[in-house]
Amino acid sequence: MSIPSGRAALSRAESVLVLSGAGLSVESGLSTFRGDGGLWRQHRPEDLATPEAFIRDPGLVWEWYSERRRAALEARPNDAHRALAELQSRRGPDRVGMITQNVDGLLQRAGACDVIEFHGSLFRVRCSAGCGGDCFDQRTPWPHPVPCVHCGASLRPGVVWFGEPLAEPVLTRSFELAAGADAVLVVGTSGLVEPAASLAGAAAQGGAAVVEVNPESTPVSAWADVTIRGAAAEVVPALVAPWGPGPRSGDSSNMPQ
Ligand code: OAD
Repeated sequence: MSIPSGRAALSRAESVLVLSGAGLSVESGLSTFRGDGGLWRQHRPEDLATPEAFIRDPGLVWEWYSERRRAALEARPNDAHRALAELQSRRGPDRVGMITQNVDGLLQRAGACDVIEFHGSLFRVRCSAGCGGDCFDQRTPWPHPVPCVHCGASLRPGVVWFGEPLAEPVLTRSFELAAGADAVLVVGTSGLVEPAASLAGAAAQGGAAVVEVNPESTPVSAWADVTIRGAAAEVVPALVAPWGPGPRSGDSSNMPQ
């Protein structure tokens, strides 16, 4: 399917939800998880991304996330991040919601706002004992895990690990956005990890048109209304180009009809 079909689906929508995954940041030089060279091809998730792994070897887990934090800080938002931020800016954040599984902060650095970080952020740390005492932004990497000043337990990366539930407000807000969307743009996710994988389906059940951008086939491809095969940084700017520079949100005269 083609970019014009995707544009048509998006242009008919009063509200659009963008669901993104690791593929969105590939052209920024960051790895995906499952494809060739993916992080889970090089490492076992159970060694690095579970609460048990952190209890077993906090230093190893901390170091791995520090390295990913460094890579994300060195990376730059790519044309897809910028185009999505531009789309949101032009149509208004109330009409373009963003949910990302990415923890790299690149959508926000491109200018997107109100981004729901479904799996947390590399740039937050919190108390591993869940005392609620320490939770803050950590741009400057520490070489080792440090203790929570409130309870003494180790601080941990503020990301969601395998086997952990998502925060209830994040889930509730995300499924509300999905239910209220007229169109969903699914970019760069394998659609294999729940509950993120159910968001596009929930939106479709509510009547949303689903447009997928991915160089490879995914479970979403089987039922999406439009599937565009290609790299995010090439396809997304072309897809949202009609909403390029023009009057700001509230004025729909820049929308293609
Ligand atoms: P995956 O690695 O599972 O999937 C990445 C997707 O990006 C694949 O479908 C690729 O085909 C696609 N892709 C590759 N290059 C692309 C490009 N240039 N443009 C667009 N798409 C491209 O990553 P996610 O779906 O994000 O969770 O993974 C979901 C979750 O699994 C992650 O958030 C992470 C991981 O375990 C946690 O860490 C909790």
